[in-house]
Formats: sequence, C-alpha cells, structure tokens
Amino acid sequence: MRKQIIVGNWKMFKTNKIGVRFIENIEAKIKGNPNLIVGIAAPSIMLSDLTKVAKNIKIAAQNCYFKEEGAYTGEISIPMLKEIGIEYVVIGHSERRDIFKEDDELINNKVKALLEANLVPILCCGESLEIYENGKTMEHVKNQLTKNLNGISANHVKKVVIAYEPIWAIGTGKVATPQIAQDVIKAIRDHLASMYDQNIANEVLIQYGGSVKPENIKEILSQPDIDGALVGGASLIEDSYLGLIE
Ligand code: 13P
Repeated sequence: MRKQIIVGNWKMFKTNKIGVRFIENIEAKIKGNPNLIVGIAAPSIMLSDLTKVAKNIKIAAQNCYFKEEGAYTGEISIPMLKEIGIEYVVIGHSERRDIFKEDDELINNKVKALLEANLVPILCCGESLEIYENGKTMEHVKNQLTKNLNGISANHVKKVVIAYEPIWAIGTGKVATPQIAQDVIKAIRDHLASMYDQNIANEVLIQYGGSVKPENIKEILSQPDIDGALVGGASLIEDSYLGLIE
C-alpha cells in the first residue's frame, strides 16, 4: 500500500510571521496519520522558523541548487536545508522551468544531488496547453522524466515523489478531470516500469497538481494511481488547507 502525500505550495506568498502563525494554527487542529504525509513548501526565508513550529506538517523547500557550496549568488544548498531539518524539496516546478529557464539537465542534477544527500525530491512534470491540445501530453511528460531521472538508480528512484502538474490547470481554475489525471499518471507509472521495473514503479508516489481544492480533492485521490496532491492557491488559506487534508 502506498502512502498518500498532500503538499501545499505557497509559491511567493505570505511573510515569515504570517507563515509561522499559519503552521501553529494548523498544528493545533491536526493529528498525525501514519498513512498520510502532509506538507507545506514555503519560501526559503521562512523554512528555519517554520520547522521550529511544525510537528506533523513536513516543511519543504521550493527549490535548491545542486552544488555543495560555492560562488552561486542567490542560491540555497542542500547542506543548508539539511541542517534545519528539511526532508522534501520541490524540483522542476513549471514556474521554475518557464520563468527561470531551468532545463532538464539542471533538474536532473538537482534530483541526483538530493537523493545522494538522502532528501526527497518532489519532481514536477507537466505539459503546456499547446502540447495538451496537440495530443502530445504523454510523449512530453515521458520525455521530461527520462531526462530528469537520467542516471538515477532503482534504489534511489523509489524515494522520488513525482508531481504531474498540467500547466494549463495551474492557477486557472481549470482542473484536469480525474480521468485525465489518472490516465497521465498511469502512463507515468508505466514509463517508470519500463525504465526500471513494475515493482519499483508501484512504489513511487505520484501526485496530481493543478487547481486542486477541498471540493475536488476526494475524487482526484480516489483514482487508483494518484497518491496525493500538490496544491497552490487552496493551500494559502487555513480552512481550505485543513479541508484538503481532512
Ligand atoms: P494551483 O493549485 O493554484 O493551481 O497551483 C498548482 C501548483 O502549481 C502547485 O505546485
């Protein structure tokens, strides 16, 4: 049985004090569940303070660089994240790929470095509206994963969380139907089986992301291959975040 994993992605919203209050308020209202991982991916400046007040909520980073240290102005290293107890790091979000021009090779280096450091990458993939309308979704997503997982061992890949986020469904209110999400995520699992083997593919947690809300999460998570959600907008409001994890 795979666990479920629901992670809120705050993107570039909130400030430190507001973030800390949010985590304190949510922690007071939730209990741990061994079969459900819940998290918040927060801006890096908040991570240290949030980890101090989080108990059941896993505080995740939204990005990192793959080098241990060096002259990389503005970047954050894996040792910096490890020291404050971060376990999960979102990698290759479509906003990083599109706005900040991160390519597949850079994303592959980040995934490798995180796994070598024993952290969990939440590796995002997903297609643009144009690719979707041209019926090239599966080809595109498989190609991303082939490149982003290049050189990663079977033992390591089991730890990766994959987030399928169709770009046309992010922040648009246009949610992929549960069936579309299931079909793509099943194709991702089949692709992992062809890259590794079926047993490995069956262990990998795969999330859906794109306009997930308390009202639609149940139907999305009821699909057999969908193990969780990566949620933007609906994770910013306390009641709504609670609604997602309830
Ligand atoms: P929304 O839930 O706001 O569509 O964002 C999805 C997302 O990008 C999560 O990483």
